[in-house]
Amino acid sequence: MSDNAPTLFERMGGSETLTRIVHEMYRRVLADESLGHFFENVSMKKLQQMQFEFLASALDGPIRYTGAELTHIHRGRGIRGAHFAAFCGHFADAAQDAGVDPGTIDLALGRLAMYKDKITGDTNVDG
Ligand code: HEM
Repeated sequence: MSDNAPTLFERMGGSETLTRIVHEMYRRVLADESLGHFFENVSMKKLQQMQFEFLASALDGPIRYTGAELTHIHRGRGIRGAHFAAFCGHFADAAQDAGVDPGTIDLALGRLAMYKDKITGDTNVDG
């Protein structure tokens, strides 16, 4: 990255906007009948805090992720490629709602795609 180029975290709008995006994303995820059941009995407050830290860090923000390793926390839940894609779609929609420009959203989605194998693990098949 060239000097002084804004990070993806900055391009997304920094902590304030990313916090809003995370909340809006999970609002959509919980309302999605293909995804909501994965989050039954999950502490959404803690999850949203951890997701904020993870995304901020993955988008090169000045924040350290203090949560669980992604492979470990998602293992054995039956999360498939289609679930991962739907989840990322809600992230993109929430970011668009928050006014993030499409080019930045595409770059952020590219970062998220790098974690697909960790999230889907041995259920990493399409469908
Ligand atoms: C790019 C995609 C994703 C990222 C970056 C991500 C990241 C995270 C993070 C950071 C946590 C919190 C870990 C902790 O509490 O220490 C978490 C928890 C969780 N994730 Fe994901 N996740 C993704 C996709 C998904 C998908 C597609 C599903 C299900 C369809 C899912 C289901 C869950 C569940 C159920 C938990 C809560 C586990 C618990 O607290 O018991 N995640 N995820």
